[in-house]
Amino acid sequence: MSENILLSTPQTPLLSVDDVKKWYPVRQSMFASLIQPDKRFVKAIDGVSIQLKKQEIIGLVGESGSGKSTLGELVTLLQTPTEGTITFDGADISSLHGDALKQFRKRVQVIFQDPYATLNQRFTIYRTVVEPLIIHGVRDKGERTRRVKLALTRSGLKPEDDLLNAYPHNLSGGQRQRVSIARAIVLEPDLVVADEPVSMLDVSVRSGILNLLAELRDTIGLTIIFISHDLSTVQNLCDRIAVMYLGRIVEIGPVKQVIERAFHPYTRALLEAVPLVDPDVKRERTNIDSEPPSAIDLPPGCRFSSRCPFVTPECLIAEPELVEMAPGHYVRCIHPRHEPIWY
Ligand SMILES: Nc1ncnc2c1ncn2[C@@H]1O[C@H](COP(=O)(O)OP(=O)(O)OP(=O)(O)O)[C@@H](O)[C@H]1O
Ligand SMILES: [Mg+2]
Repeated sequence: MSENILLSTPQTPLLSVDDVKKWYPVRQSMFASLIQPDKRFVKAIDGVSIQLKKQEIIGLVGESGSGKSTLGELVTLLQTPTEGTITFDGADISSLHGDALKQFRKRVQVIFQDPYATLNQRFTIYRTVVEPLIIHGVRDKGERTRRVKLALTRSGLKPEDDLLNAYPHNLSGGQRQRVSIARAIVLEPDLVVADEPVSMLDVSVRSGILNLLAELRDTIGLTIIFISHDLSTVQNLCDRIAVMYLGRIVEIGPVKQVIERAFHPYTRALLEAVPLVDPDVKRERTNIDSEPPSAIDLPPGCRFSSRCPFVTPECLIAEPELVEMAPGHYVRCIHPRHEPIWY
């Protein structure tokens, strides 16, 4: 049975990623290719299946290099998969062209980590937010202004004249990220991929941005893929969490389940890295080595085996399948942990 069937939700999914791979060929010197004649690949995404229903917020977490951004780029067609299929609203996105592709570009948007780098510093806020409307052929000037103002209001910014005429450098980091969000929602998309949208912001403004994303799910019906390397950021926002390790999902489930009852030693290690507020709460320590192996030379069997404190010879034989441990909660581990993390 395909993993996607295992992960299916009763409602028709808005997005379906089915056994997708993205491998980048490694460029080798002539000398290296004589020693190692086989073509080598960075396996950025190495067999991922996931389905999202409308208005769902899914958190994609994992260490640097686990493939989170690559997955985001694949579902927004900034990259094309090496293998596998991505379906959006019933259509295979690799087959889209002409008007259908334009519609897809309208319906799927991205919010990046660094609003300073992604906003054109020479554009006013009005020009920044109106641009997608111009690209997508909204000709009426009055209509464009109305929609820019609505997007800014929805993003928690007061669209008064001085804001419309301001430049990114006139704004705070939090306000700049709200402008990026306004730009992403001005076309009223269905799906937004938010790639670490708060990690460069001051801690004091982070929760405002997270609350805004939650509100937008309700007000304009957004479905959100929220990428973060930090589990504590996603826990109040997301419905489900998918934990990625070296290009694969190793655990996925409802947020409360994954946070309170993580089965995979890797998820547990990520959770244990989150600072505790209550000094009386004690928890287990799953010590893992600091560096993951390279996405070129993966270990045999379970790809976490080289860092797992619970590894057994069995773990090195074959990569485990995702197994459903509780309703909707899947784990890719043959020796899942059952003891509580907090005690
Ligand atoms: N264009 C590319 N060419 C070659 N390798 C790439 C390319 N893009 C990404 N990779 C590699 O693919 C793997 C996954 O990268 P990706 O950026 O998706 O990870 P990430 O989880 O988003 O990490 P981070 O938390 O650092 O943003 C890494 O090993 C990365 O070096
Ligand atoms: Mg990334």
